[in-house]
Parts: sequence; structure tokens; C-alpha cells
Amino acid sequence: MFARIQPYLLVIFIQVLVVAAITNPQDFAALQSLKSGWENAPPNWVGTDPCGSGWDGIGCSNSRVVSITLASVGLSGQVPGDIADLSELLTLDLSYNEGLTGSLPRPIGNLAKLTSLILVGCGFSGQIPDTIGSMKQLYTLSLNSNKFIGPIPHSIGALPRLHWLDLADNKLSGSIPVSNGTAPGLDMLVQTQHFHFGKNQLSGEIPSQLFSGNMSLIHLLLENNQLTGKIPSTVGLIQTLEVLRLDRNSLSGPVPQNLSKLTSVQELFLSNNNLNGPLPDLTGMTSLNYLDMSNNTFNASDFPPWISTLPSLTTLVMENTNLRGGVPETLFSLAQLQSVILKNNRINGTLSLGSSYSNELQLVDLQNNTVESYTDRAGGYGSIQIILVDNPICQGETQSYCIPPRQANSSYTTPSNCSRPQCRSDQVSSPNCQCAYPYTGTLFFRAPSFSYLGNLSTFLALQQRLMFTFQSHQLPVDSVSLSNPSKNLDDYLTLSLEVFPSGLGYFNRTGISAIGFALSNQTFKPPPFFGPFFYRANGYQYFTGDLSSSNKSSSSTAIIIGAAVGGSVLLLLLLVAGGYAFRQKRRAEIAAKHIDPFASWDRSKNNGGVPQLKGARNFSFEEVKKYTKNFSEANDIGSGGYGKVYRGTLPTGQLVAVKRAQQGSTQGALEFKTEIELLSRVHHRNVVGLVGFCFDQGEEMLVYEFIPNGTLKDSLSGKSGIRLDWMRRLRIALGAARGIQYLHVLANPPIIHRDIKSNNVLLDERLNAKVADFGLSKPMGSPDRTHVTTQVKGTMGYMDPEYYMTQQLTEKSDVYSFGVLLLELITARAPIEKGKYIVREVKLAMDKTKDLYNLQELIDPVIVSSVAPGSLEKFVDLALDCVAEEGVNRPTMSEVVKEIESIMELAGLNPHTESASTSDNYDGARKGDEHPYSDDSLFVYSGAYPHSKLEPK
Ligand SMILES: *[C@@H]1O[C@H](CO)[C@@H](O)[C@H](O)[C@H]1NC(C)=O
Ligand SMILES: *[C@@H]1O[C@H](CO)[C@@H](O)[C@H](O)[C@H]1NC(C)=O
Ligand SMILES: *[C@@H]1O[C@H](CO)[C@@H](O)[C@H](O)[C@H]1NC(C)=O
Ligand SMILES: *[C@@H]1O[C@H](CO)[C@@H](O)[C@H](O)[C@H]1NC(C)=O
Ligand SMILES: *[C@@H]1O[C@H](CO)[C@@H](O)[C@H](O)[C@H]1NC(C)=O
Repeated sequence: MFARIQPYLLVIFIQVLVVAAITNPQDFAALQSLKSGWENAPPNWVGTDPCGSGWDGIGCSNSRVVSITLASVGLSGQVPGDIADLSELLTLDLSYNEGLTGSLPRPIGNLAKLTSLILVGCGFSGQIPDTIGSMKQLYTLSLNSNKFIGPIPHSIGALPRLHWLDLADNKLSGSIPVSNGTAPGLDMLVQTQHFHFGKNQLSGEIPSQLFSGNMSLIHLLLENNQLTGKIPSTVGLIQTLEVLRLDRNSLSGPVPQNLSKLTSVQELFLSNNNLNGPLPDLTGMTSLNYLDMSNNTFNASDFPPWISTLPSLTTLVMENTNLRGGVPETLFSLAQLQSVILKNNRINGTLSLGSSYSNELQLVDLQNNTVESYTDRAGGYGSIQIILVDNPICQGETQSYCIPPRQANSSYTTPSNCSRPQCRSDQVSSPNCQCAYPYTGTLFFRAPSFSYLGNLSTFLALQQRLMFTFQSHQLPVDSVSLSNPSKNLDDYLTLSLEVFPSGLGYFNRTGISAIGFALSNQTFKPPPFFGPFFYRANGYQYFTGDLSSSNKSSSSTAIIIGAAVGGSVLLLLLLVAGGYAFRQKRRAEIAAKHIDPFASWDRSKNNGGVPQLKGARNFSFEEVKKYTKNFSEANDIGSGGYGKVYRGTLPTGQLVAVKRAQQGSTQGALEFKTEIELLSRVHHRNVVGLVGFCFDQGEEMLVYEFIPNGTLKDSLSGKSGIRLDWMRRLRIALGAARGIQYLHVLANPPIIHRDIKSNNVLLDERLNAKVADFGLSKPMGSPDRTHVTTQVKGTMGYMDPEYYMTQQLTEKSDVYSFGVLLLELITARAPIEKGKYIVREVKLAMDKTKDLYNLQELIDPVIVSSVAPGSLEKFVDLALDCVAEEGVNRPTMSEVVKEIESIMELAGLNPHTESASTSDNYDGARKGDEHPYSDDSLFVYSGAYPHSKLEPK
């Protein structure tokens, strides 16, 4: 028997050497084990080279598996301990696979490099293993919405980098662990911003030791547990706190006065406890939007006057809190007030909203009180709902405020501006009126700052932010639809989400997982007034190809055979690993080099290793040579310190600009790599897109989309022949600002450009601004770091003096440079011209009491006739704010964008339309004009970004 099997195994073995040449064998074996533990592993998990053949959900770097993202793909089964062999794994997201059950294997703690462990909305049970405390790099730990039982492990306190800790919606019990002489505890998590522990069975007192002034918590969510005892006064030490939910526990005793020190808290929930003593005085909590103290046993008290002084209050809920006496009119004049719910108290006297009540007011509910009269306004209070049912005033009365209200949920649904077609029964029409199979689920917002659900713009803002996130991460999403906002029993705002696929009408597994990840990993950030959120997906059954799924039994046979072969392969690999490891590694390297031009990237030169690329195309030298007609002089369109720039034409007709490093220049290697890595991740209409790169035959080239109208500097100096009137300059300022804002706020990781100047703002065929040149850019290390310390680089005249002095680079350094650029737009002068510094010149000449601030001498004569009254002054104010000496006094780019928008509105321009209206009448676009890109017939505008991956040649 043995003798007969041997040659058979040998055949497999040789095959393995040939085909498993790319993925690291240990990683392959671990994935194989995962696959055999799961019933519904993705169908393309076949073969022996997960990295090379692109297994769904598997991300690799340098032949090692670094990420597994398989959200919402219908996995079922258990996670085997072998997962711990994926020793390079950084990200593991298996969210929204309800079929994944069993406990987390203890060896998972060996994943020493893991930064994100995300298992939201699965069926995991058992205790959270304490080995989790060995994953020292963990940044995100999301185990919410499972069935975990038992205590929160002490060891979580030993995760020094933890930023996000979500254990909510499980069955965890026991007390909240804090450190003692021998074991770590959650009090040690001073970096963590999120404690989300709601909806568990945690008991005991909230340890006073848990909180300290060193903590960085912004969201502390302990609602819906069985916590007892007093609220520790140490909570008042966490100055960073923005949301505090302690509701739905059995907390007792008085509310500590210390709480009023939490001046940043916007949402405070103390409801449904046994709190007693006097009503707290929270005068200091001036950021409060939402305050709920309902259902406690406070001492009887008059309506506390401090509540009417909270400037940002939108919602006051004090149901059943033993209130008596009258409600002051001043409460209703709080500018943002939407809802006042004071049910089940003993409020008496006369209810009057007064005449200066809030515009936002929607609901005043005083059901079951002792109100005797109500001062209505002549003509009523419009749409404000007043409820006085079960008050003496309503005895035998039939006024509208005496009729018990019907439960009214908002019926909001994302509108569409086309007529929705009749779709097949299992399909749904998208807002763009396409029938498709959407990915559906529910968004839960745990503490929104508003209570009125009828405001359209609230949900439109959310929807736009969702689309923006999906688009900027190049996810295959056509549109999203939100519907049915409502408050659930836990006081969470829920919203149904439908995500519609672009293209074929259904998603494939990669698409779904990537969308699931954007939501599970909190890549998507809702507008701040929505507060902390989580997402739960419904199962998706319409994967590409599965729709016409043929013979089920044959495929399961294939799986069995596959597993058996896989098992033997594994055994053999283990047996021969020693002898053949070297040869195999070499083969892997050769194969990898073929597909990855950076395999030979020289790590010894301390340039940070192989670049991580997304969507950038890899061109060979021969290809680029052909596209640029052998780098002909006719195609030479510029040069800089880095080398030359050539125009090229891809076989598709797309024009590109090829930036070619000087021969023999290795100096720029690090910059080169930085630039491709950053650019391949950055997608925004005001940022120049990278098409690809060439790293071949000793050449370093970057291939960008071609921007036909050259640099802003050339237009301002008159070199390009384009006349920029005031309106165009405003649009350009706005475009550039939006591009930089994108880099600062929405790019992941956020990016500081470091070299904002008119030479790095390009103008496209419609004179839209596009920010270019990332050679000096810096990604922020982690999303919460506010500065990076670097060697000072940049361009004289634009450089932030504070950065120059302290070497601490922040977003505000870009704001400074942008301020200089704004002055340049006004004056058309270089920042330093004939030894004069533009910032100083403007400040010296400026006189705010005079027309145009007395700057006529400095203003570019080209714009004088087109300046709209008042707009130039505001523009100057903004520029000077941007160049404030100290970074903290400068606006953020988001504020800059807003201000430019308002200046444009002042000048009669709509900041939200493209500059299409001015596209066809600018001087430069006329045929036969002098400037180098005037022949626009050469230019094929491609709005879409090429999606190709690194492809083996
Ligand atoms: C500290 O806590 C751990 C875990 O609960 C416990 O086993 C240990 O006995 C405690 N040590 C002390 C000194 O209280
Ligand atoms: C107060 O308690 C009642 C009865 O348990 C409950 O129906 C109501 O929702 C609670 N109010 C709030 C604001 O939580
Ligand atoms: C009315 O409010 C009182 C407290 O003021 C409460 O005890 C009583 O149960 C409430 N009645 C109803 C019907 O809710
Ligand atoms: C309202 O109640 C308070 C005490 O709860 C009492 O002092 C006051 O006289 C009452 N006012 C009216 C108008 O009944
Ligand atoms: C999955 O969909 C994405 C985007 O729609 C596409 O780029 C990719 O090639 C698809 N993958 C497979 C295996 O079809």
C-alpha cells in the first residue's frame, strides 16, 4: 500500500513546488485549515496560491497574507486555532457572518502583528480568551453583536495601542476589570477613545479606579447592563468625553457634582436607573445637545433653571423625574431646541412657549402632569406638537393637544429624481432607477445629538458621506438609499441602508466584503451629529455567478477532493519543508519578482520596504517609451528638480503625463515610493490621479492623468495665455481647498501635503483646480496623531514659520501655504519677489477702513474689473487668517472651504456646481492659441479612474 501511494504523492509534491511558489507555505496551510473549517468558503478558494491567484478576501504583501476581510459573505463554521499561523496578519474582519459560531480559539493571541480584529454581528459564543491581551499591536477590537459570555478579560488592559474597544451587545457578565497588583485592567487603556460595553449583563459597581484624567475616552457607553452602586465621581476627570451613556442600569445614589466638569459632553443619558438625591446641577456642561434623566427617583424639585442656559440643547427628556412647579418660557427660546419631553411629572400652572421660541421646536410632551392652562398663540404654534393629555386642562376637552398622539415615525426614504421602474420581485430599484440586488442592513446610531427625525438634510448629509466614502475607496457602489429612521427601545437611532452595486446589478464577494469592512472598521465616518455608530448587515445571496449556480453535489464533491488533496499536500510540505524551503523560497522570489516589480526593492537602504499599492498600473520601460514616442522632445512638457515630464498617449487614447526621474538619480527613491503609495490611495476630483508607474531597467517614472492647462503659476504669470478673472480664481481657490481638505480629512491615512504652492496646483480643461505632487507628503501615523516630527522641507515663501521653528508638521502648515497661495491669487505675484515677502507686503499696505482694503497697488490688474463688491476683502481676511503666526489660530481646511463657498455666494456664484459654465469661453481654449496645451482635440478626458491592479506580465 505504502509503495503504491508514494509515487502518487510525489506527483502532487512536484506540482506543489511549481504552483505554490508564491504564497508562503505556512500561510497557505493556515488558510487551508480555515477553509476546511468553513462550509461556505468563497468558491475561488482553490489551488495552492492564495496570494497569486487572488483568493477573495485575502490580501498579501510580499507573498505573506496580511489581511483577511470577508465581511458578509455567508461563512459558517468555526475559526480554527491554525489561524494563529498567519504570523504576518494585520487585519482580520469576519463581520456579518452569522453562521460563524463557537468560541474564539485561544491561539489567536499569537497573531502578534494584528492591528484590527473585527468580528461584528457573527454568532461567536463562549468566553473572550484572555490571550487577546498578547496582541500588543491591536488598535481596533470590535466583538460587538455576538453571544460572548463571561467576564471582560483583564488582559485587554494590556493593549497599549488600543483605540477602539467595542464589546457591546453580547452576554458578558461580571464586573468591569481594573488593574490590581497582579492583573492589568481597563483603567490602563489611556489611549483608547471608545469604550462601547452597552447591552450586556455587566454587574457590580463601576470602579472608581477605572477613570482618570490621563484617559482619552470620547465615547463611554455602559447603557443597558446591571451595574449598581454610585456613579463614581472620577468620571468627571475625563475631559475628552463627548458621549456618556449610563442609562438602563441599576445605579443609585446622587449624581456626582463632578459631572458638570465635562464641558465637551454632548449626549448624556442617565435615565432608567435608581438615582436619587437632588437633581444634579449640570450648569458647566455647556456642550450638551441631548440630556435624558428620565425614570429616576430624584427628590421632588422645581424645574432647574440651569437647563434653560444650556446653549446647544436640542433635546430634553425628563420623564418621571419628580418635577413640579412650572416650566419657564426661557427654556423654549434655546435656539436649537427640538424636543421637550416631561411626561409623568407634577408640572403645574400655565404652559406657555412665549413668543421667541426656537425655530427648531417640534415636540413638547407634558402628558400626565397637572397643567391647568395653556397660552396658545394667535394662529397656533404651526407644526409644533403639544401634548397635554392627562392634565387637568384636558378634562373633557377636545383641543388637538388633548388628543393622545399617534406614534409617528419619520417615513424618510432617499428620494430619486427619475421614475423608479417595476423590478422583478427579488430586485429593488436604486435611487438611480436601476433594478439591482442591493446589499442591505441597518445602521445604529447610539447617541445622535438630535431628536427630530423629519429633517431631510440630516439624512441627505449622511447619504452623501456614505457615497463619498465608497467612492473615495473605489468601491463598486452606484448609489445608496436610506429609509425609515426611528428610535428603538434602546434609544438608538436606526436607519435601513441599501447599497446598490455599480455595473452588473449584483456584487461579488470582494465588493461586499470591502463595503462591509468600510462600515465595520469605521472607515466610514458619519457626520458628527450622528455620534457613535455600528452596522449590522443582512445576508447577501446574489453573488456574481452564484445566481446561475448549477450542480450543487458536484461542487461539494470537489470540495471533499480538494480538502483531501490539501491535507496530503500539507503533510508533505511539513515533511520536506527543511530540505526544500530554500529552493522554494527562491522560486517564490523569482515568481514574485515577475508580478511585483518591487520584489527587489532594496530594504537595506532604509527606504521602508516594498510599496503598498492600490489600483496603480505597472508599466514596463518599453511601454512608457512607446507611449511617449521615445521620450521625444516634442513630448517634453516640463522639468523640475526631480527630472523631466513628458506627455504620452496610452493605447486607449488617454493622455498621461509621465514624470521621469533623472538617470542615475537614486536620491529620490524614498520620495518616489511615498508618492506612488499615497497617490494610489488618493481619489478626488481636486487631486491629480495616478494612472500608474514604471520601476524597470533602473528607471523611476510616475504616470499621472494629463492635466491640460498646466500649473496655476503659469496662468497667473501670464505664461500659459489663460486669463483668470475673479470668478475663475474663486473657483480655483475652492477646488484647491477641497483637494487639500480631502487629503486632511478624508484620505486614509490623512495626508499633509507639505508643498502647497501655485506650481503644484494644476488646471484641467475646465479650469478645475487639481492638487499635485506628493513627493514630500506625509501620511499621519495614526488617525489620532495631530502632528509628525520631520526634517523641514517645502518651498521658501510658502513655508509655515511655526513648522520651520518647531519641525512639528501639522495640517495647519498646509493651511499656511494655502494662505500664501490665496495672496498669490489676488496679486499674481510670487510669494517672494525682489526680496519682498507677499505676506508682509499685504499686511503693511492694508487699511481696512478703505475701499478694497487699500490694496489697489498690489491687486492683479487683470481682476480689478471683475471683483464683486465685498468679496475681495473677505478673501483677504481669509488669506490672512490662514497665515496667522500660530497654527492654532489658523482655520482648518474645512473651515477654509466653507468660507470660500460663502465668498462665492456673496459674489453670486454657486459653489456647488462645476465650472462648466465658464468652460468654453476662456481665452486659452481657442484653437491656435499659443499655450502648449491648446490643442484640446488631443485630450481625451477620462473622468473614471483606471481600476487595473498589478498584473503579471
Ligand atoms: C487581581 O485580579 C486577578 C483577576 O481577577 C485575580 O486573579 C488576582 O487574585 C487579583 N490580585 C489581587 C492582588 O487582588
Ligand atoms: C420610563 O419608564 C417607562 C416604564 O418603564 C418606559 O416605558 C419609558 O420608555 C421610560 N422613559 C424613558 C425616557 O426611558
Ligand atoms: C403619572 O405620573 C405619575 C408620576 O408623577 C406616575 O406615578 C403615574 O404612574 C403616571 N400615570 C400614568 C398613567 O402613567
Ligand atoms: C405649583 O406647585 C407648587 C409646588 O409644587 C406650588 O407651590 C404652586 O402653588 C403650584 N402653582 C399653582 C399655580 O398651582
Ligand atoms: C469583483 O468586482 C470588482 C468590482 O466590481 C471587480 O473589479 C473585480 O474584478 C470582481 N472580481 C471578480 C473575481 O470578479
